[in-house]
Amino acid sequence: MFTNYIKVFQLIAAVILSASVYGQKNDHSSFFPGKLWPDNDGNHINAHGGGILYHNENYYWYGEHKGANSLAEVGVRVYKSKDLINWSNEGVALEVSTDPNSEITIGSVIERPKVIFNKKTKLFVMWFHLELKGQGYAAARTAVATSQSPTGPFKYIQSFRPNQKSWPQNFELSQTQENLEEQHLEWWTEEWHQALVDGLYVRRDFKKGQMSRDMTVFVDDDDTAYHISSSEENQTLHISKLTDDYLGFSKEWVRVKPGGQNEAPAVFKHKETYYMITSGLTGWKPNKARSFKAKSMFGPWEKLANPAKGKNADVTFFSQSTYVLPINRAEGIYIYMGDRWNPKKHSDGRYIWLPLVVKQGQPAMEWQDEWSLDQLKYISDNHKAD
Ligand code: DGJ
Repeated sequence: MFTNYIKVFQLIAAVILSASVYGQKNDHSSFFPGKLWPDNDGNHINAHGGGILYHNENYYWYGEHKGANSLAEVGVRVYKSKDLINWSNEGVALEVSTDPNSEITIGSVIERPKVIFNKKTKLFVMWFHLELKGQGYAAARTAVATSQSPTGPFKYIQSFRPNQKSWPQNFELSQTQENLEEQHLEWWTEEWHQALVDGLYVRRDFKKGQMSRDMTVFVDDDDTAYHISSSEENQTLHISKLTDDYLGFSKEWVRVKPGGQNEAPAVFKHKETYYMITSGLTGWKPNKARSFKAKSMFGPWEKLANPAKGKNADVTFFSQSTYVLPINRAEGIYIYMGDRWNPKKHSDGRYIWLPLVVKQGQPAMEWQDEWSLDQLKYISDNHKAD
């Protein structure tokens, strides 16, 4: 608890310090959700669908470089900060390849990169959603890259459909014994929905591996890492335990909310409870966020309320979740990170970062035109989490 307070004070001190160090050039001391967010060079930060790694007292923000459209033309960018407001451009962490035969060639789709640090191997491990060039969103693969430095360069390792030839732990024996071939049912019918809930796509993809699109990774207090992604034609989330080196899947996994249509998962922990924020499934258009909690990463996950409160809560303040950053875990204080996509000009997508508080087992956030880290200190002084 005390160390958490120190962390908030350190952040505030870092804001004051960076304001005086950067002077006129970069002296932001507030978040302005939805506005242009200049980096130390004065360019709007280009790190969409991103996530944060806190390592050796620095924050690293990894995200998709977006050009005019949503195809990868540069790769994954990384920015560095001490105070979460002023970010220096550290360049391209994972570069796309100019080799047309590479899986990460220019024109592929690289989304939602997340980086975690493996204490045993001392490697920084990046996971991201990969779609192969020219195939739209049909490939539905997860991909991994590693680096010895947080700013890269990351070396691309491979992509695959996870959990090949392994059944989820929360499948009934009878579900494994049905026909492995796809039954062709008309989408959105009651019969289709029931078949999907019963594992239609898990069986269909058993041999080749499960689909994996919107994703995140989460490292637990015991250093176990989990990969969480939208699978089964985006209808069901899969939570999978990674191997100890974080480079592969352990084959221990569960399905979460079959048929629930959850995308954009962001996982965090408060006390001994795991929380997850997701969105619904409406492409680049915003929708109403959802939240869940569980006593174990493998569930069962209980559905909670929309974490967004107040005006425009029904469209999550025109954003879609990408990450939840812990600020004071003991007190239940976090930052919600969301993307306000701009499909007409993807590089102009905006970032919606807001204070998020867990109150009586429910994450909640409200819109703010401008807010500062002092507010988090105010919240932690005044908020008594359960
Ligand atoms: C919504 C997802 O959350 C985004 O990451 C992206 O995949 C778009 N769908 C594509 O339509």
